[in-house]
Amino acid sequence: MPIEDTLQTLIPEAEVHARIEALARQIDADYAGAGEIVLIGVLRGAFIFLADLSRRLATPHRVDFIALASYDDGTRSSGVVRLIMDLRTSVTGKHVVIVEDIVDTGYTIAYLTEILQARHPASLRTCALLRKLERHEVDVRVDYLGFDIPDVWVVGYGLDYADRFRTLPYIGVVTPED
Ligand code: PRP
Repeated sequence: MPIEDTLQTLIPEAEVHARIEALARQIDADYAGAGEIVLIGVLRGAFIFLADLSRRLATPHRVDFIALASYDDGTRSSGVVRLIMDLRTSVTGKHVVIVEDIVDTGYTIAYLTEILQARHPASLRTCALLRKLERHEVDVRVDYLGFDIPDVWVVGYGLDYADRFRTLPYIGVVTPED
């Protein structure tokens, strides 16, 4: 069956938007009086979530991007995270929030936390739209979480299956044939 024929809705667009609004209010409350923060979007998957979160934040912030990859063919984690493109700006002494679309095995967030901590930010927190707890292979903390989801292949809102479906406006599920 073509992969698009297996597509189903997991989280409707309105629910995604409501949750992002709540996350923005939580971040605003936590960083009240802290001055400017830096949101670091993890490319490519986080670009849509980051854009929506950023526009809902009242906290003054800058945006930077880092590109990492661990899914060589777009479908399976290799467990080895590669740095594809580094940040443009220094995070030393800044309040940093990493923004991810999904935490799956946890390798990406663990790697990123390690390399950013080494640059001595004033603080470092993590924000992820989705988390698959049952897939975690490393212990990672998500400070601001959208949704816990089961172990299904999610697409849309920045997430892909073999680089497809990223621009769906909701979180969908596809079921590849084995
Ligand atoms: C995906 C996703 C996260 C990471 C999470 O990125 O965007 O960054 O995997 O998986 P993990 O917790 O198992 O490390 P991917 O490597 O597919 O690149 P992409 O964002 O460009 O699609």
